[in-house]
Amino acid sequence: VRFVICVCLLFHILPSPATAQEKSFVLALPEAPEIGVLMDYVLPRFSLKTSVRITRVGADGPADMALNAQNIGMPVFQGAGAVWYLETITNNDHTMRFSDWIASEPGSRAITGFAPEGVALFTLPEIIQTLEIIVPLTGDIAMGETLSLTNCGRCHVVNESNRMKAIGSTPSFALMRTFEDWRDRFETFYVLNPHPAFTQIKDVTEAFDPARPSPIVPMAITLDDLEDIVTYVATIVPADLGAPIQSQ
Ligand code: HEC
Repeated sequence: VRFVICVCLLFHILPSPATAQEKSFVLALPEAPEIGVLMDYVLPRFSLKTSVRITRVGADGPADMALNAQNIGMPVFQGAGAVWYLETITNNDHTMRFSDWIASEPGSRAITGFAPEGVALFTLPEIIQTLEIIVPLTGDIAMGETLSLTNCGRCHVVNESNRMKAIGSTPSFALMRTFEDWRDRFETFYVLNPHPAFTQIKDVTEAFDPARPSPIVPMAITLDDLEDIVTYVATIVPADLGAPIQSQ
């Protein structure tokens, strides 16, 4: 008899997926410490409002809901380097109530209101409309730097080493690195003006029209060269546009 009692007690102490009658549920949380402190702030607000108690377990624990950065469930907030999703594992009144609440105005306010040093650490998730597949850059950085200096450096400031040799009115690589879509632009630079007039990409661009030859020494590179260039550009620190203007 004693053994049975012990087992029952154990089951009671260990957090386990709660039943609907208990007015509580188990939420699995990732390790990230920022998430822990955010939850210290957010969860009591929910419980106060709804009297639904939330028991937390680690990411692997048995749970009714799970917060994750793996794109499972609905996006609920972003910060600490990721977009965070809420997965519903057990569908009941309490878990439904929580997912409704966190997506509601008071839930959003609880998330964005968490500002320990006066700065909000988390924001609402940006709704990502198109599924973007970001292909990793696998080019050669050193080769990319050399190719950039030889091919682009006569017009663009690539880095400190050609600052004096480039054309001042042409945007520097560091400046173009500030564009949100810098990678798209670099990967397609040969169709963006003024480049088509003098650029040949092997197996990609058409030969120059004999009636309109390149006005300057033409540039001929391959797609592999371009991959190296883009891989190098990824390492360039974007120009600090917020820096105060020193002098005019
Ligand atoms: C003959 C001069 C010249 C060379 C060589 C040149 N560029 Fe440019 N590039 C320009 C100018 C001028 C602009 C600005 C065009 C504008 O503002 O409309 C520009 C703009 C760009 C842009 C931004 C385009 C846009 O529309 O957003 C990219 C990206 C770029 N260059 C990449 C390169 C790369 C990579 C190379 C070398 C492989 C290169 N350029 C070589 C003159 C040049």
